[in-house]
Amino acid sequence: MSKPVLRLVDIWKSYEDLEVLKGISFELTKKQVKVVFGPSGSGKSTLLRCINMLDPPDKGEIYISGQNLMEPGVKLNKMRVKIGIVFQHFNLFAHLKAIDNVSIGLRRVKGFSKEEAHSKALDALMRVKLAEWADHYPAQLSGGQQQRVGIARALAMEPDLILFDEPTSALDPELIGEVLQVMLDIAKAGTTMLVVTHEMGFARAVASEMIFLDEGVIVERGTPNHFFESPKSERVKHFLRQIDVLYGRHEELLEPSDREVNG
Ligand SMILES: Nc1ncnc2c1ncn2[C@@H]1O[C@H](COP(=O)(O)OP(=O)(O)O)[C@@H](O)[C@H]1O
Ligand SMILES: [Mg+2]
Repeated sequence: MSKPVLRLVDIWKSYEDLEVLKGISFELTKKQVKVVFGPSGSGKSTLLRCINMLDPPDKGEIYISGQNLMEPGVKLNKMRVKIGIVFQHFNLFAHLKAIDNVSIGLRRVKGFSKEEAHSKALDALMRVKLAEWADHYPAQLSGGQQQRVGIARALAMEPDLILFDEPTSALDPELIGEVLQVMLDIAKAGTTMLVVTHEMGFARAVASEMIFLDEGVIVERGTPNHFFESPKSERVKHFLRQIDVLYGRHEELLEPSDREVNG
């Protein structure tokens, strides 16, 4: 068993009187994909912001490749480079072309030369099938294409893991499939991913574990098979019925072969 890329130990987070995360612990090993899901307001985005210390937890330990980010004196900027993030609303720079959105971090944070950064950014755009759109600005791209640029930007930095915060939930239904396909491709290529999503087809295809979060606690966790065949808690059953109605349509986007990866 390889050393975890991410290990969370008893993470607690409050905003004033509101306890948002109440003792979250789990691990992610190299090349693993885990899916976090649960009702709106359950603390999913807060958890991701805690993991990269944008909004540090009140208590707990966050190990990234063995280094505890909560230890005093840790160089957070250096550690954050190891954690990619893909946001719900893409968060691209509107005044930069796709290629420059991807290469800017390589130049400013990783210190690559202009040429090296350009070449690595182009490779990343190729992985999300957008090389020919490199010179377009975000406003000239569809939402699905913008999110694929967001994924390329994360990939290009070669982080230890990538966090995804509901990456398809701001997209029109017809654009979701292309983003999920890119996420499936990079998952199968061995990217370590923690994905907040309600796209159960994606979870079924590549997640080794699903974690159901409700009111800041892990209510139930298990394989996709566990959740789809024999979920235990009533809260999970109820929630899965709701997402079946809302998101059930995407099962058919996945090739049958995709469903077998990671069982
Ligand atoms: N910066 C903040 N200040 C105060 N309350 C917050 C802040 N961020 C999130 N919350 C509250 O924490 C709870 C969990 O939010 P969030 O993590 O965004 O949930 P989710 O992503 O699961 O929908 C919500 O009640 C939300 O209003
Ligand atoms: Mg959220």
